[in-house]
Amino acid sequence: MSGRNWDRVPIDAQSVDAPLSLSAIFLVVTVGSDHAALSKVASALSALDDLAKNVGFRDLSGRLSCIAGIGADLWARLSPDGRPRELKTFAPVNGPVHSAPSTPGDLLFHIRAERADMCFEFERILLDRLGGSVTVVDEVTGFRYFDARDLLGFVDGTANPTGLDLPASALVGDEDADFAGGSYVVVQKYLHDLNAWAETPTHLQEEIIGRTKIDNVEIDDDDKPRKSHKSLATIEDDAGNEYDILRDNMPFGRPGQKEFGTYFIGYTRYLWVIEKMLQRMYVGEPPGAYDRLLDFSTPHTGTTFFAPTRPMLQKLAEGA
Ligand code: HEM
Repeated sequence: MSGRNWDRVPIDAQSVDAPLSLSAIFLVVTVGSDHAALSKVASALSALDDLAKNVGFRDLSGRLSCIAGIGADLWARLSPDGRPRELKTFAPVNGPVHSAPSTPGDLLFHIRAERADMCFEFERILLDRLGGSVTVVDEVTGFRYFDARDLLGFVDGTANPTGLDLPASALVGDEDADFAGGSYVVVQKYLHDLNAWAETPTHLQEEIIGRTKIDNVEIDDDDKPRKSHKSLATIEDDAGNEYDILRDNMPFGRPGQKEFGTYFIGYTRYLWVIEKMLQRMYVGEPPGAYDRLLDFSTPHTGTTFFAPTRPMLQKLAEGA
């Protein structure tokens, strides 16, 4: 392997390897266009680690973590001289029936803990520090739903890479050495039509997802004309190599408002992998045979970020 020995780069993208948590907050903000706003944001970013320690130390078993992701426009303001090779704003995806919109966002904070109060406290103090320099454009509090199921009732996250496969799938490597250890992050907030889903027979739901509902076993649909979500989201190159991503989706909702959702968040070493998944889901494979999960799930946001390593984040913040 050339130059840096990639296998020995400690896992970073801040805390991408934090375990699946009971609670999470996904906070997306835009940053004011003046220099004062930028420097306030930079100082909050450089103090992020200390804030996680201050709140996290109050209950170490709460395993509080926060990953900050930076959008392409803000990246250009913080570091005009260089950016991760693939970083750009989320490109809308238009299929024959369903479309994925692109929505604004300069910063993403993915806050996770075993306790909802720790996520809340972290977010409260963070927003206090950011003050008028940012505008909150989306804020979602997610929760673990029984045995890691989404609100459609399926276990979500099974095929995630683990062990050494995790950094190999989620973290940039030698191919973009200046940004090695960072990660591209794509988020989409989906709302579900749970009534229509409930009227869909279980065997059809299983065909749509590509796994059985109760015991979470994969269904082989290689010979079927209409592929499942699982198969459409499986990306292989011509040589048969599979490209995984790391997902940390969380259910959220307000039954009183009939709001039932899945917050999709994917971390990837190569942005093109998630873009290809979205193409296959929305346009279909073959074209027209789109992901039927979308007949029951509508994306309301779509934003791309880059989560740099801790030292990279510090450098960016100090530079500003
Ligand atoms: C697999 C749910 C959106 C990528 C799965 C599985 C479920 C699921 C239940 C099967 C179990 C598992 O391996 O986790 C959902 C829901 C979504 C959603 C409810 C939103 C409404 C997305 C999006 C992407 C994606 C937008 C990518 C852009 C994947 C991948 C797999 C997967 C890569 C694993 C495929 C494999 O078996 O290798 N999803 N998903 N999902 N999903 Fe999604």
